[in-house]
Amino acid sequence: MKNLIEIKTLSKDDITGLIDLTSKVKANPSKYSDQSAFKDKLVFSMFSEPSTRTKLSFQLAAKRLGASVVDVSKVGSSSEKGESLRDMIKTIESLKAHVVIIRDKASGTAQYVARKTNLKVVNAGDGMNEHPTQALLDIFTIYQVFHNYTGLKIAIVGDILHSRVAHSNMFLHEKLGNKVILCGPPTLVPELYKDLFKNVEISYDFDSFLPKVDVVMMLRIQTERQSEVNFPSFREFARLYSLTKERMGLLKKDAIVMHPGPVNRDVEITAPALEDEHSVVLAQVGNGLFLRMAVLYSLLK
Ligand code: NCD
Repeated sequence: MKNLIEIKTLSKDDITGLIDLTSKVKANPSKYSDQSAFKDKLVFSMFSEPSTRTKLSFQLAAKRLGASVVDVSKVGSSSEKGESLRDMIKTIESLKAHVVIIRDKASGTAQYVARKTNLKVVNAGDGMNEHPTQALLDIFTIYQVFHNYTGLKIAIVGDILHSRVAHSNMFLHEKLGNKVILCGPPTLVPELYKDLFKNVEISYDFDSFLPKVDVVMMLRIQTERQSEVNFPSFREFARLYSLTKERMGLLKKDAIVMHPGPVNRDVEITAPALEDEHSVVLAQVGNGLFLRMAVLYSLLK
């Protein structure tokens, strides 16, 4: 694998290959840890947007594999002095880095870095575009529960328009043959998604499809990506689209509830619902480490 930039450009085999490798890493992490072949490998992480889970799990994954990790943040680096992204990545390239993991508020940044350098690039989230490792860890978590990654019905609920997590998941489920129901305020779930994806349906009535789905994926409202108000208030949003314990009562017995984090408790999901037995939110975080070990292993080997 040369880069991991978008799910959109991966094949079904690329995706299932990564799911299989993640299963192997999770089953036997020590086999993949401290690889002597990776001791001279240098991984740069460059996050210019806030991150807890993604950054920690990428850095931990690289360290577990036996590679060296260098963190370059915007704060404290010369980008504060006006250095351009292009000059920063050229500097990283001349330090003989092997992989750069990049998160940026602008869509297309990871693609740009891959075009301008010979570095292997992993997209850790670019603006509203994609967040491929999140969708891959999500499908790995689904696979661990259902022992299957096809023929499922997945609801994605909330701020679809601004969510790179939703976009990566939509491409992924189209390739794997899963049905997707999008739900949220009409301003945040435009009808055009039905024309862009052949497996997508739209519903503005949260309660109507809950008894039929295998997975409910809740999303955070991306306030940092909205310059105008797209819904009346958080209270109104929560009334219509928050996953509460009562709504969870409508779910099938074996359905699961996911959230990429960070969670705004009582906006998109209530605290008791988050801790309910349907919720696999902490399993997602745990699986993120194994998935990112699998991705970095494929790039470094
Ligand atoms: C997501 C992201 O950054 O896009 N978070 C994550 O990586 N775990 C989702 C979000 O911030 O809402």
